[in-house]
Amino acid sequence: MQTPADLIVILATGGTIAGTSRSATDGVGYTAAQLRVEDLLAAIPGLAHRRLEAHQLAQLDSKDMDFATWQRLATAVQAQLDRPAVGGVVITHGTDTLEETAYFLHRVLAPIKPVVLTAAMRPATALAADGPQNLLDAVQVASAPGAAGVVVAFAGRVHDATQVRKTHSYRVDAFESTDGALVARVEEGSVRLLGRWPQGDALGLARIARPVQDWPRVDIVMNHAGQDGRIVHALLSAGVDGIVAAGTGNGTLSVALDAALREAEARSVRVLRSTRCDAGPVMALPGLLPSAGALSPLKARIELILSLLAA
Ligand code: SIN
Repeated sequence: MQTPADLIVILATGGTIAGTSRSATDGVGYTAAQLRVEDLLAAIPGLAHRRLEAHQLAQLDSKDMDFATWQRLATAVQAQLDRPAVGGVVITHGTDTLEETAYFLHRVLAPIKPVVLTAAMRPATALAADGPQNLLDAVQVASAPGAAGVVVAFAGRVHDATQVRKTHSYRVDAFESTDGALVARVEEGSVRLLGRWPQGDALGLARIARPVQDWPRVDIVMNHAGQDGRIVHALLSAGVDGIVAAGTGNGTLSVALDAALREAEARSVRVLRSTRCDAGPVMALPGLLPSAGALSPLKARIELILSLLAA
C-alpha cells in the first residue's frame, strides 16, 4: 500500500524564534538562536499528534547568514523533498535575512512540494511570543492540499518568496508582499488560498556546488543625495564581480554614480539597476544600465550571484 506523503520535516536554523531573554517582558534585549528545534516543538501542543521530523541544521542569528549555510540548507531541503514520505519542509529562520534565503531557495529549487519559511519577531521567552503560532501555521501551510513552492508563513499571512520583504523593524506583522498579492491566509488552522502557489524553473543544486569561497562577490550600492560614485571605485579597487545599484525612483542614478557603474561594466563587472523604493519594478530603457525588473536590491543581488555562478 502506498503511504501518503504527509510527513513534514522541520529544518531549524536559529533566529529570534529560537531566542531567549532574561525577562518575559523584554522584547528586544534578547539573544537569538538559543533553543533547539525540539524545544520549539514542545511549546506547541497542537503539533503533538502530527507526523513531524525535526533537524537542527544551523543555529545562528540570521544577520550572520552566509553562503555556506545556504548551500547546506538548499542541499538538505532537496534531500528531504526527494523522500516519497515527505509532503513538505518547514524552515525556522531569523526574520532579518529571511526574504533572501526564501528567494535563494526559490531560484535554486523551485520545488513542486511546499517549502515554508517561518520566524518570529519576539523571542520564545516573551509574554506573548509569536513563534509558536507562526510555526504551527507553517506546518499547516506545508500540509495544505495543493501547496507548492517556496513561501513565507508569518503572522497569519502566506507570502510568495519573490514578493516578501521585511518592512518593519519591530511590529509582529513585520512582512509584506510589497508588490503582489498574498498567496494565502492561515485562519484558525485553515489555509485560505488567495492567489497562486509560487512556480519557477529550478536552477538546480549543480549551480551552487562550487566551494563558497569561490562564489562571486556582489555588492549593493545605493543612490542618494550627494552620491559621487566613490564607493564604486572603492569596490573596483577591492575586487568585485557584480554591483546592484539601489537607484532612486525608477532605478535612476546620479550622473556620477551612473558614470562609475559604466566604468565598472567596462571592467567586466556585471551591473544591475534596481530601486530603493519599497515596491515597484525598474523599467528597462534603451541606453540605460540593465534593469533588475521587479526584484528588490537584495533579491537582485542573489539573482546576480546565481547568474555569475553559471559563468
Ligand atoms: C535574526 O534574524 O536571526 C534575528 C532577528 C529576528 O529573527 O527577528
